[in-house]
Amino acid sequence: MKILILHGPNLNLLGTREPEVYGSLTLENINEKLIALGKELNAEIKCLQSNHEGALIDALHDARTWAHGVVFNPGGYTHTSVALRDAISAIQIPVIEVHLSNVYAREEFRHVSLVSAVCKGKVTGFGWRSYELGLRGLIDIIPT
Ligand code: DQA
Repeated sequence: MKILILHGPNLNLLGTREPEVYGSLTLENINEKLIALGKELNAEIKCLQSNHEGALIDALHDARTWAHGVVFNPGGYTHTSVALRDAISAIQIPVIEVHLSNVYAREEFRHVSLVSAVCKGKVTGFGWRSYELGLRGLIDIIPT
């Protein structure tokens, strides 16, 4: 089984970016944990981060050709991007939306997600463990 872990804008700064909101692990730390979990669960994990909407769309299109599913933190684009939503609904493989912070406990503009309705599920508020929970859930729902 092959899974793409996709990180959106500003997540490259994890570790130093508002650690009280997003935790102290770096993106590399999180990716290492997910790759290790993937090994345990017999899944091959590829991790990718981009600050660019178009590059995220390209990564989703590309995932259609090789991945069984995607764990995706769209960052700030969650709340703004019709184009990412369209890409998710176009690729027809399960996508799990994840957020480190509890977006519902934050500013009102973060309560709106343009992507939730086209994702298979969503995990928010568990810090880096949102990715872990999302990955476990995704692997569980993909038929083998
Ligand atoms: C985030 C929440 C978003 O509102 C924010 O723009 C991010 C990170 C999270 O993981 O909690 O960049 O997706």
